Amino acid sequence: MARRAWVGGNFKMNGTSSSIKEIIGHLAAAKLSNDVEVVVGVPFPYLALASSLVEKTNVAIAAQNAYTKGSGAFTGEVSTSMILDSGASWVILGHSERRHIFHETSEFVAEKVAFALENKLKVVLCVGETKEEREAGRAEAVVDGQLAAVIKRVDPSAWANIVIAYEPVWAIGTGLTATPKDAEDIHAHIRKFMSEHVNAEVSKSVRIVYGGSVTAKTAPELSEEADIDGFLVGGASLKPEFVEIVNTAKL
Ligand code: PGA
Repeated sequence: MARRAWVGGNFKMNGTSSSIKEIIGHLAAAKLSNDVEVVVGVPFPYLALASSLVEKTNVAIAAQNAYTKGSGAFTGEVSTSMILDSGASWVILGHSERRHIFHETSEFVAEKVAFALENKLKVVLCVGETKEEREAGRAEAVVDGQLAAVIKRVDPSAWANIVIAYEPVWAIGTGLTATPKDAEDIHAHIRKFMSEHVNAEVSKSVRIVYGGSVTAKTAPELSEEADIDGFLVGGASLKPEFVEIVNTAKL
């Protein structure tokens, strides 16, 4: 299966009804490349609003978390069926802010990924190392461990509904984008790891996107790299330049 470029926005815990109307309205009205799949991750209370704003477009909506149970006594959690019911079709899981601020382990993230996929949500699986881990020469080992936890839990065919977002923690929200070469090295490594631990077909077809201070300025050079299939964009997804980033992505 041929890959298609993919660009996601991650609003994180930002926005109001009025700013979301403005930002997503701008995106919905923009001329977006047909070669790029576009997904926007908004906070739970705005999923239905965001979904209604993209109704007549090819833009899809993502939640930023989901629990591992269908329903029940889990105060404060949100289920995959509620997310689907709100009109979203994707969920971002394993984001470094969830792993580091909320102490989500790779096993818990993998459990969430498996449950979301079983329940027909598509998944953006975030992986990435901290600055200390990179400096200790452990970047690849950390990413391998995060991927291995998911590989253990899902069928090879499930990877058709997963986009891997490589987001080095030291580059998120810091203005420090990885150099295209540093990013490509890890992306190529991930593809090799997927070939060795899942299969060659999945390795070729799975989308691996880069995240970490991507802007309209840094996106073009990153896009040139063979194994960078698009972006997961935080801060810049709240700005009009997100449209430019979408239209820059290519395989
Ligand atoms: P950033 O965030 O683009 O603001 O660095 C990326 C992300 O956390 O997904």
